[in-house]
Amino acid sequence: MRIVLVGPPGAGKGTQAAFLAKNLSIPHISTGDLFRANISQNTELGRRAKAYMDAGDLVPDEVTIDMAKDRMEQPDAANGFLLDGFPRNVSQAEALDVMLQAEGMKLDAVLDLEVEEDEVVKRLAGRRTCRNDGSHVFHVVYAPPKTEGVCDVCGGELYVREDQSEDAVRNRLDVYHTQTEPIIDYYKAQGLLVTIPALGEVQEITKRAMDALNK
Ligand code: AP5
Ligand code: MG
Repeated sequence: MRIVLVGPPGAGKGTQAAFLAKNLSIPHISTGDLFRANISQNTELGRRAKAYMDAGDLVPDEVTIDMAKDRMEQPDAANGFLLDGFPRNVSQAEALDVMLQAEGMKLDAVLDLEVEEDEVVKRLAGRRTCRNDGSHVFHVVYAPPKTEGVCDVCGGELYVREDQSEDAVRNRLDVYHTQTEPIIDYYKAQGLLVTIPALGEVQEITKRAMDALNK
């Protein structure tokens, strides 16, 4: 299956992607995680992306689209993938369509995680992310690790992402409304959009998403 996850920052895309990718046996491809890996390895791509990310702005399309395409062309993604954080504007969505059409492929579904703004602000304020693997995500209240500051999955150090500051979160929400929300109509017009209410227990939301995909 080829699936796109959309939703505001803090909606739980990374949290859900980990479970959905495992259930569906497809790789979880997060452009945010790919950028953060490049930043921690101090690559040229990482150095280019960092200022945009810290401020909560989108990294320019010419950098992002090539990076996402390279990742989707890896052998483990040949039979499907779960995209988290890409596409994030209409021109990225159009580029993805062109990429898939060239290979005779298409998306199966776009899952829109729907959560109110005050909830995402609470989720982001308490989030802790693993330095070894950005897909290991915790929350000080909602999903606390067994040992404070230590990842349950791999023992890595938990940290607060640079774009969790109040200013960066406010900007990311603005960017989401102005640049990312238009892709919801874009996919609705293609008949691919499925809205998943994303308030409640993590497992319950995974179940809603799996039920929607199985329909
Ligand atoms: P990215 O890493 O994609 O960040 P984001 O979209 O802002 O989303 P987050 O990762 O902050 O939130 P999430 O929805 O994954 O929620 P999570 O599961 O962590 O992008 C970062 C930056 O990279 C962008 O700002 C941009 O600069 C750049 N970038 C990336 N892709 C790009 C692109 N395509 N084009 C251009 N630039 C791009 O959950 C949040 C918290 O809530 C956690 O603590 C979790 O434990 C908790 N939680 C989750 N589910 C629940 C629940 N059901 N109940 C209670 N708590 C919950
Ligand atoms: Mg995420």
